[in-house]
Amino acid sequence: MLTGNQNKFKEGRLTLSEFGYDLRLLRGEKIEIQAENLEEIAKHSLERISINDPRPIISEESGLFIERYGGFPGPYSSYTLRKIGLTGILKLMEGAEDRRAYYKSVIALKQGCDLRLFQGSVWGRISQEPRGEGGFGYDPIFIPDEGDGRTFGEMTIDEKNTISHRARAFRMLGAWLKSNPAR
Ligand code: IMP
Repeated sequence: MLTGNQNKFKEGRLTLSEFGYDLRLLRGEKIEIQAENLEEIAKHSLERISINDPRPIISEESGLFIERYGGFPGPYSSYTLRKIGLTGILKLMEGAEDRRAYYKSVIALKQGCDLRLFQGSVWGRISQEPRGEGGFGYDPIFIPDEGDGRTFGEMTIDEKNTISHRARAFRMLGAWLKSNPAR
């Protein structure tokens, strides 16, 4: 997996182990373009890579999409978090009744000359205040609909992985790899 994000790697690895696959971290420069959709960014970072390895290579792009703001920060999630932090997001949401948001994950897979995409998402809402030390990024302010009212930040990695956008995308990938083993 081509990523600089250890949390993404850990979550992806855990999910792929359900299928009997191991995931390795690929070191190297990841060139990330700025684009309006995750699919384009994920595909681009793999298209540029030239590695002589027959094993499948993946890249994952993800983001938090807030309904009230037309999907902002979406593909700009890591930049936004760096610039305004969770406090900035909560400030934007002050007094807002509509707190709906979803996380989306897109995985690009390169296997030989073949490039394909897998995706997953999870709906929830933005909390009133940050809660929990777990997860990463926006997890302390994201309450998934399918949970029990806790934020992703208050869940263990296993709990988050039962419903997360990333786990869903990785399960699509795992199932596809099972039925299309590399030759
Ligand atoms: P990128 O895909 O490397 O551009 O980063 C996506 C950014 O979206 C991360 O740096 C986080 O800020 C946010 N993000 C994506 N997935 C998650 C998640 O599972 N939990 C918390 N934040 C996430």
